[in-house]
Order: sequence, then C-alpha cells, then structure tokens
Amino acid sequence: MNDLLESKEPLLKVKNLSKSFSVEKNFFGRTTKSLRAVHDINFEIYPGECLSLVGESGCGKSTTARLILNLVKADQGEVLFENEELLSMPARKLRQKREDFQMVFQNPFSSLDPRFTIFDSIAEPLIVHKKGTKESIEKRVFELLELVDLAKSFATKYPHECSGGQNQRVSIARALALNPKLVVCDEAVSALDVSVQANVLHLLKKLQKDLQISFLFIAHDLAVVKMISDRVAVMYLGEIVEISSTQNIFSNPKHPYTKALIASAPVADPKKRNREKIFLTGEIPKPTEIPSGCTFHTRCPVKIDSCLSQVPKLKNVCSSEKKTDSHLVGCLLY
Ligand SMILES: Nc1ncnc2c1ncn2[C@@H]1O[C@H](COP(=O)(O)OP(=O)(O)OP(=O)(O)O)[C@@H](O)[C@H]1O
Ligand SMILES: [Mg+2]
Repeated sequence: MNDLLESKEPLLKVKNLSKSFSVEKNFFGRTTKSLRAVHDINFEIYPGECLSLVGESGCGKSTTARLILNLVKADQGEVLFENEELLSMPARKLRQKREDFQMVFQNPFSSLDPRFTIFDSIAEPLIVHKKGTKESIEKRVFELLELVDLAKSFATKYPHECSGGQNQRVSIARALALNPKLVVCDEAVSALDVSVQANVLHLLKKLQKDLQISFLFIAHDLAVVKMISDRVAVMYLGEIVEISSTQNIFSNPKHPYTKALIASAPVADPKKRNREKIFLTGEIPKPTEIPSGCTFHTRCPVKIDSCLSQVPKLKNVCSSEKKTDSHLVGCLLY
C-alpha cells in the first residue's frame, strides 16, 4: 500500500469542501439560522486505498460522502475525480461518470427493493446503464454473486429470505456491478452482528486488494476502522482535525480529540488499558453554534488561552517528505 501512495496520482482530490444547511428562514425566505455540516475539508484518496472517516454522530461524515458523490450541492470547494471536477460537471457527463463511484449504505434492507429478487437487484445497474445483452448480464450477475461469496441459489431469493450479512453482500455485489473505481461505504457494517461484520470486512479488504478498488469508509467503530483502513481522517464539528496512516492514528495520535476517541474505545487486552488516557468533558456543541477559535476548545482538557480565539490550521508534524509518513494535525499545541 505504501508503495502505491508514493508512486501514484490520487484518484480523488477533495479541496476546500464546505456545506451549511439552512435551518431557519424568515418570512421572506431568507436564512436566519444555518448549520455548519462540513467546513473547508481537504483530503485525497489514492487508487486501491481505503481512507476512513471517523468522528462522533453529527460531525459531517455522511454529508461529506454525499457532497463527493454530488448528491448534495456543495456551497464551496472542488471534488476532482481523476483530475476532472465533478461538482461543476454537466448532468449528462456526471451520469456517465457515476459508473466509476458507487455507494453502500448502512441498512441493506432499506437499500434493496423488497419486490426484487437478488438477481434483479444486482442486474438493475447493468440494465439501467445498458451494459450488455441479456445473456452477458446474466453471466455477470453470477460472477458477482461468486465474488461476494454467495451461492448461485441466492439469485432467486428475495431480501426478506436472506440474513443481514447476506443482504449486505448483495448490496456490495450491486455496487461492484459496473466495475467502479471508488466505493463509498457509509456505516456499511454497523448494523451487522460482530461475527458477520468481520466476514463482510474481510470481503471488502479482499475486493480492495484483488480489484484495486479505492474505498471511502465511514464508521464510528474504531476497531472496524483499524482493521480495514490504510489511512484515517478524524472529523470534529465538520472539520478534519487529524489525518494520517492507520498506524500513526492508532499508535501515535496527536490531536487531543483523536486521543480521546481512541481512549473511549473498548480495549480487549487488559495490559493496554493503562495507557495515557484523555477523556472528553462536556457535550458536543451544536453545529448551529460553532465555538470560536479551535472548535474543540470547549471540551479540550489541554487547551491554552490562544485556542479560544485562534483557528488552528492542519500542519504536518512529521519531518519526512514522504507522502506515506504525512501526519496532519489541526491543533495549536503543535
Ligand atoms: N439535509 C439536511 N438538512 C439540515 N441539516 C442536515 C441535513 N443533512 C445533515 N444535516 C446536519 O448536518 C450535520 C452533519 O450530519 P451528518 O449526517 O453528515 O453527520 P454524520 O457524521 O454522518 O453523523 P452519524 O454518525 O450520526 O451518521 C448534523 O448536524 C445533521 O443534523
Ligand atoms: Mg452518517
């Protein structure tokens, strides 16, 4: 993976992406209160790489995914996919481009049509995008079933006849039907039992390796993130506060928020329970009332005076020039 990052151009570049939602309007339809969901975020995803977005509920992970896929209109910023700007792309071209990026959602029961057989669900994107004849589509559906480790006999079943894990495999097969280059997984394993979760994660990892697919993986469970990601971006109140390799984030976290997130995750090994711990105090601020300066200062146990007024910028805390070593942190302590 490291070699990949060093030698290749990013598949996806997200530049200064921002989105606010209007939550209150006056009589004249003018916004009187807005909610900052995503603020000035920047990151890249390389071919064959899995980048995870983590952070508490409401920090803007799903909005980021929707902005990238152009399902929600951004207020500001650019999304470059293979160096082509998606946000300003004409609708027809964007529809074609959509073949290259697909999404897998949290709940397979609501993302699969209950009236469709598994065969029909997987075949649908191929039919909509006019990919081949009846025979070639049929062949491809069985290939995809095999790819996600489901027996041919599943083709005639309906979602209610399958388990959560099996349905999520079907959603993955459907997402892979058009040979995408990027798959966005929004809490794709969160609704599954732990053992099923591990199986689906292994499948995703295998697909990433075998098919060289890139993943944007959104999850709140750090154990899951640690298992699947090459790099991790930590979000807080709509901003990325730290981004680095999975190894750096878990073994050498720098931002007090990342440290707190890791400290609050359950640890199986009792010997590791006594490591330095930072605990979050207070409630997460409302996204309609963003704190001044560093947005984390209201909960930060190590804040200094300037955190209340100065906005930290992401800084590389690693002296090496290598992309793989890059460790960006947005904290005034660095
Ligand atoms: N269409 C919308 N209109 C108004 N507010 C919205 C809309 N979509 C999202 N938000 C708000 O934007 C913020 C970010 O939401 P988002 O769904 O991106 O968070 P998330 O990190 O995915 O959370 P979760 O972990 O709970 O899924 C939240 O405060 C949410 O209420
Ligand atoms: Mg979400």
